[in-house]
Amino acid sequence: MPLATTASIVAAAPGGVCAFNVITLEHAEAVVAAAERVGLPVILQVSENAARFRLGRLRPLAVAAGALAADAAVPVALHLDHVTDDVLLRQAAETGFSSVMYDASQDPYEVNVARTKAAAEWAHENGLWLEAELGEVGGKDGAHAPGVRTDPGEAAAFVSATGVDALAVAVGSSHAMTTRVARLDHGLIGALRAALPVPLVLHGSSGVPDDELRQAVAAGMKKINIGTALNVAFTEAVKRSFAEKPSGADPRPRLASARDAMTEAAAHLLRTVAAPPA
Ligand code: G3H
Ligand code: ZN
Repeated sequence: MPLATTASIVAAAPGGVCAFNVITLEHAEAVVAAAERVGLPVILQVSENAARFRLGRLRPLAVAAGALAADAAVPVALHLDHVTDDVLLRQAAETGFSSVMYDASQDPYEVNVARTKAAAEWAHENGLWLEAELGEVGGKDGAHAPGVRTDPGEAAAFVSATGVDALAVAVGSSHAMTTRVARLDHGLIGALRAALPVPLVLHGSSGVPDDELRQAVAAGMKKINIGTALNVAFTEAVKRSFAEKPSGADPRPRLASARDAMTEAAAHLLRTVAAPPA
């Protein structure tokens, strides 16, 4: 199946769509295998942080993820996530990405608007779908901040001033949580859904329990961003592998267990968020 686009996957989904952050080839293989197993479309995300980890190069991981996506039996799109660097933003068009999340959420409101508007104009000129963030979802610097909230009125003004295609909103989740204890503000999700003409994006979804995710989708959340949950599955599987077999230099059995564990985790989350709103 040819590489899908984020816009087409989001538009066609009756419920929520999972967007998984990938760091290694095994992450990407696991996500695609999970999507094929459950027969659902999926978005593969490479973040600016992941490109930094890949020795500052975006292209190698993007090309690998793109090859897996293009060979998949279900629609798979590539998304460039949490971009703060304009040089990296401009690499998106030539690297197979159909969408970008431009993150100026740490800037004051007016600066966020100006930077995001310029990014959206560039993205649209280059055929890309642009997501932005308002009401910074915490945890990117390791400090959990689940108390932050996006104001629906300000969000409506932001979308109209910037021309973005999707908006990441702060409704109670926080990045990099390794336990699933976040509680979302479902009333606020409904109010944001009613106030905004674009799809809503939930960041920091690893810390959100299954039932909260289902309710969030029912209230109008569309793109569900998940990263840490795969890393938890990866790390726990590698730990188990070493506990069971401490010796052996070949990394493949360790990585194979990690890939299997990430596939299970991704398949479960794909099914959980796919249910359409009642
Ligand atoms: O953009 C990426 C997501 O917000 C992932 O957050 O690692 O907390 O699931 P998470
Ligand atoms: Zn995020």
